Amino acid sequence: MKLVTIIGARPQIIKAAALSRAIRNHYSDKIQEIIVHTGQHYDDNMSQVFFDELQIPRPDYNLHVGSASHGVQTARMTEGIEALLIKEQPDFIVLYGDTNSTLAGAVAAAKIHVPIVHIEAGLRSFNKAMPEEINRIVCDHCSTLLFSPTKAGFENLKREGFPIDNEPPYTIDNPKVFHCGDIMYDNSLYFANIAEEKTDIIQRLELADKPFILATIHRDSNTDHPERLCAIFKAFIRLSKDCHVVLPLHPRTSKLLKVNLNEELQKQIFNNPGISLIPPVSFLEMIALERHAQLVMTDSGGVQKEAYFFQKPCIILRPETEWVEIVQTGNAILADADENHIMEAWQHFKDNPPTAFPEIFGDGHAAEFMLERMLEIFSRKTL
Ligand code: UD1
Ligand code: UDP
Repeated sequence: MKLVTIIGARPQIIKAAALSRAIRNHYSDKIQEIIVHTGQHYDDNMSQVFFDELQIPRPDYNLHVGSASHGVQTARMTEGIEALLIKEQPDFIVLYGDTNSTLAGAVAAAKIHVPIVHIEAGLRSFNKAMPEEINRIVCDHCSTLLFSPTKAGFENLKREGFPIDNEPPYTIDNPKVFHCGDIMYDNSLYFANIAEEKTDIIQRLELADKPFILATIHRDSNTDHPERLCAIFKAFIRLSKDCHVVLPLHPRTSKLLKVNLNEELQKQIFNNPGISLIPPVSFLEMIALERHAQLVMTDSGGVQKEAYFFQKPCIILRPETEWVEIVQTGNAILADADENHIMEAWQHFKDNPPTAFPEIFGDGHAAEFMLERMLEIFSRKTL
């Protein structure tokens, strides 16, 4: 069986590590994986570092599309992916999440009748102003196999009319939905101890005896709107008087801080001994930071879940989340880009640190579950 995996953005490269590892460990005689990197992310610390660190095979192809507007970037990727699918003739294509690389893969494959497997299906913010919401809806509705990491995702698909007890053959018109657990949970479990052994970021940043908040920001809804970005950074300045803040900056955010924050605010951030602004870190470093942090603040989908995996409270810098369960269990608070809400949420978690983190994201073997289903459903060829 031959599959083509499309990756492009940082979280997809990390997710691909789990599936590639499971193929290498259990299915190397049955599955051939061709990896296509669209080039959506290209800085070493947004791409190469993960291949080096997480034992992901080198991509067979890199389309080098780079950064551009949504239309241009998606069009370049679609063109490149279509050509590769025609050349490689895979049994199906694997798409992760909700980025422009996902959308391009979905459009390219569906139009030339290559079946799509969507990993992280069914998630919804119910906010179509988010580019990711458009991408995930299109991808889900072009897919043949949909793997939802959570019960809420599974229920969303049911509500959108996806059949649940349907029989094979599965096709784009008779898709099959599975609730299977989260592939990122597989990774966090697998790499947690390796991260402790192989990284020294806690020592390097002198955090061993210092309580700290780990924060990330990269959503365009925060970075591209000066008033929202200012509100978040004003909260960081206030927080830094109470607890050290460690902020690995996405390149989008680094660029826009200098454009969208006034000079006075920039001074208070860049010259603040209570805030460590650092370049993007590797995944193992990120896991080490998450494990040692007192609390996580983020607008990232992946980072809010990882806070939960490592049993840390999380303040979500968005008005809504696709990972509703972590809010429902009281372990995360939606504070949006609102300075006062952020401070209230911080005080709430200081007074009431969460203690119960029920199992929401599966058992750490989502990759094996998915590969078994792919083999059952698509295995018509041997290598
Ligand atoms: C993308 C995804 C988002 C995901 C995020 C993960 C879409 C629409 N968005 O957002 O869902 O959460 O990746 O990190 O697909 N840049 C660099 N170097 C890089 C990559 C980007 O400098 O290696 C800068 C460029 O200025 C670029 C900007 O970051 O214009 C945004 O990059 P882009 O890939 O368009 O979107 P992300 O914000 O990274
Ligand atoms: N991450 C990382 N280094 C960083 C920031 C994030 O390795 O400096 C990892 C993080 O641990 C998670 C993933 O990147 O696994 C999340 O990606 P991101 O926040 O870019 O995107 P999202 O999950 O919101 O799509």
